[in-house]
Amino acid sequence: MREQLAGAAGAGVAPAVDPGFAIRFLDAGNALPGVRALKPLMVEQLALRRGLDVLELGCGAGDDVRSFARRVGPAGHVLGIDSAPALVAEATRRSQDRELPVVFRVGDALALDLAAASFDRVRIERLLMHVDEPLQVLHESARVLRPGGRVVVFDFDWDTLAIDGADRELTRRIVRSHCDATPNGRVGRALPRLLGDAGFEELTTVPHGVVLPYDFFSWLVSSHLDAALAAGDFEPDELIAWWDQLDRAHAGGGFFAALLGFVASGTKQAPRG
Ligand SMILES: C[S@@+](CC[C@H](N)C(=O)[O-])C[C@H]1O[C@@H](n2cnc3c(N)ncnc32)[C@H](O)[C@@H]1O
Repeated sequence: MREQLAGAAGAGVAPAVDPGFAIRFLDAGNALPGVRALKPLMVEQLALRRGLDVLELGCGAGDDVRSFARRVGPAGHVLGIDSAPALVAEATRRSQDRELPVVFRVGDALALDLAAASFDRVRIERLLMHVDEPLQVLHESARVLRPGGRVVVFDFDWDTLAIDGADRELTRRIVRSHCDATPNGRVGRALPRLLGDAGFEELTTVPHGVVLPYDFFSWLVSSHLDAALAAGDFEPDELIAWWDQLDRAHAGGGFFAALLGFVASGTKQAPRG
């Protein structure tokens, strides 16, 4: 349907199958102004300082791990964990020839092969939407944090995707379909509750919106709609008409899309008494 996008996206090849796609998609997402603006918010919540031990779950290509490492300095250390071996390899490659205290490992955030109480900070950005049990990831985070340590999480809430420029009812169906196809598409709004359920205290939650430019939006949504079309959830004609409306709106300066996410943080309580 969107030949030019299918080409860019590896002809519909899933990110897990085509590592090149995953890396290009991650880099494009991290280059969005709204995502770039998110990073300092998270750094502020992490309150990094020299000598801290930091764990990044779902580190992707590791750009933020290197940024954290510059802040904790040689007396600290930052470990990046990701379930995708190709991303861990890319993160390791990007870190070569830099004298930074970073290590990257393949691992599962749901079952960390790490000692209890061995980190001062855990950062988790845009991972929880991908897992079926986000609370388990937060329990693991609490386990590996030292008492008084802090977790900082960001995730989107895909039900908040606001799109201007096309038919209202069909747009609603598409937003819902896209959200429901994500294992935890609504995890953003659940973050304060999940952090509380995992036993964290001193909770803070800050909403953060990201504007999606048309090229990135098309890439993102067409990947999903190709699958939804194949599953029979939509008629080809209605999707062609929807994209035509958006193409015209974009050409006329009338397209807009934005998505809300949340930066949530909490502290692991020190033993009482
Ligand atoms: C959207 S990316 C975010 C990457 C990185 N945090 C950043 O800001 O660039 C989500 C990452 O989570 C990883 N991931 C998904 N499920 C995971 C799991 N169960 N354990 C570890 N990593 C996981 C994916 O491979 C992917 O690299």
